[in-house]
Amino acid sequence: MADMVGRRAGVSAGRRATEQQQRALSTSSRPQPGVAFAFDIDGVLLRGKTPIPGASAALHSLLDPATGAPAVPFCFITNGGGVSEADKAAELGRLLDLPPAAVSPGQVILAHSPFKDLATAAPVLVIGGKQSLAVARDCYGFTAAASPAQVAAAGHPAQLPLRPPHSPADVGRLPTCPTSGAPAGSPAFPFTAVLVMYDPECWHTDVQVTLDVLAGRGVSAGWRLGTRPPATRPFLPVHFSNGDVLWANEHPAPRLGQGAFAAALRAVVSATGQGDILSQQLIYGKPTPWPYRLADAALAGQALKLASSPSSDPGWRKTGIRAVVAVGDNPAADVAGAAAAGEPWVPALVCTGVHAGPGNCPVNPAAVVVEDVEAAVEWGWRLGRESARAWGV
Ligand code: G3P
Ligand code: MG
Repeated sequence: MADMVGRRAGVSAGRRATEQQQRALSTSSRPQPGVAFAFDIDGVLLRGKTPIPGASAALHSLLDPATGAPAVPFCFITNGGGVSEADKAAELGRLLDLPPAAVSPGQVILAHSPFKDLATAAPVLVIGGKQSLAVARDCYGFTAAASPAQVAAAGHPAQLPLRPPHSPADVGRLPTCPTSGAPAGSPAFPFTAVLVMYDPECWHTDVQVTLDVLAGRGVSAGWRLGTRPPATRPFLPVHFSNGDVLWANEHPAPRLGQGAFAAALRAVVSATGQGDILSQQLIYGKPTPWPYRLADAALAGQALKLASSPSSDPGWRKTGIRAVVAVGDNPAADVAGAAAAGEPWVPALVCTGVHAGPGNCPVNPAAVVVEDVEAAVEWGWRLGRESARAWGV
């Protein structure tokens, strides 16, 4: 495989374009009505910010060459996040050199996309790096979202003994109650949930502040010095946007993901004898059903559009989506999730990320194991050709 990847990486951009055009013209590679795709991102299309060889060509083969818009339904399901769906769509287009019409925010399902349905004006503690806080507050409607750094900046100076106190000028002030002016985490305006949006950058800060808020049943430590947490208030739910212990970036070996942070948080809760404060844990992202429901809706909308478009393959007017080829690199997330989603989902496992092969994963076996995303797309077209008669196309 290394040889194949190396050989592809050496192909020039011009030569790749010619190959893409040839592929689009070749009958054996033509998009097949009835077949949709759901692509994992890290380890399938990208490693960090670096495109995986063949990823751009694979996506180009799904586009209408005249308009650059999708010629078949496809979406992206990633356990990544920390940015908005719109920013991720723009980033994919930029990194994979796609035309503007190729990817819209509606095709992007992030690990935390299901959090939109939880939006509340009550305070929530948002864990996670990148733009997690801004996305929760400005895009998803959690108007009183606060970060651990904001809580610490407003709290006791010794709350985080290993680092100098955060300054509100650097991290922003805690949001306040629009009617009473009480700050988030105070007894009058307590936190109501913890949202782990994305992988945290500073585990010590995030574990410590999360423990403080959970133990205080929503009231952060600085407000309850010398007081007992109100035992009548229930423990807060903790929403983890994904459970990935490992994921693949440019580093040669897989990296620790949010699932590893969750394991550390659970271990600390247990080691401090406070097991009950984590009694409400909810996990979203692959392999749970949440992202597949969102993907089903996104793909169905695209299929409907294709069926009514005069420029699309008339086959889409005869058949709906008969197979969704879910292309992933992580058997525990991508294969297990697509298998659990049931028909028409078909898991295809690539060897460019967490799963290095050879062969299938014995614990979560995929319908097919292929070298990379280009081969997965080819496999999808073959599935469509072989099923065309049965599907009435
Ligand atoms: O943080 C990213 C990660 O957990 C996996 O992303 O695209 O492989 O689902 P992806
Ligand atoms: Mg992946």
